[in-house]
Amino acid sequence: MLVQSLVAGYLLGSIPFGLLLTRLTGAGDLRSIGSGNIGATNVLRTGRKGLAAATLLLDLAKGALAVWLAREFIGGFEAAAAFGAVIGHCFPVWLRFKGGKGVATLMGVALGLAWPIGLVYAVVWLGMLALTRVSSLGGMSAAVAAPLAALATGHAGYAPVLAALAVLVLWLHRANIARLRAGTEPKVGSKK
Ligand code: G3P
Repeated sequence: MLVQSLVAGYLLGSIPFGLLLTRLTGAGDLRSIGSGNIGATNVLRTGRKGLAAATLLLDLAKGALAVWLAREFIGGFEAAAAFGAVIGHCFPVWLRFKGGKGVATLMGVALGLAWPIGLVYAVVWLGMLALTRVSSLGGMSAAVAAPLAALATGHAGYAPVLAALAVLVLWLHRANIARLRAGTEPKVGSKK
């Protein structure tokens, strides 16, 4: 059961919606635009706001769906499904394991695990984004808040997997962290 939840989560998470949507609509090759990332922030750098919104929603939905499928059809092991979905997004076999940074999919799994965790995640993400206009700062802050939110809202059992995923998200943002330290990280909406 644990393996089924993990594998189903991985396969769902590994669908690279940002890359697929931009390719299908002729918006360009995301890997050679901006940061080269396959997430919604980089889709926005193509100038296609609708595509960026769709990428955000679909990357989020696949995470929530992975957890829901595990709960409803695989008999549990939601944490394994959550872990699999974020790992699938970040290391998709179809893209030679070079995927995204996990922020939207992590919000989806947080919502799927327990909506209060997802709510805290969304508030921290959007709050930091509104304050700083820097997408990576919003995403990293939300990822770090997730395990704390699990502890604070009575879902301590999910804290370990969310803590592990927060570490992963921070590690995947190491280039963003270097740019933040250098003062060169672009604001949302910038084409860089
Ligand atoms: O979710 C990814 C975001 O935090 C950073 O994206 O393209 O600016 O590296 P990007």
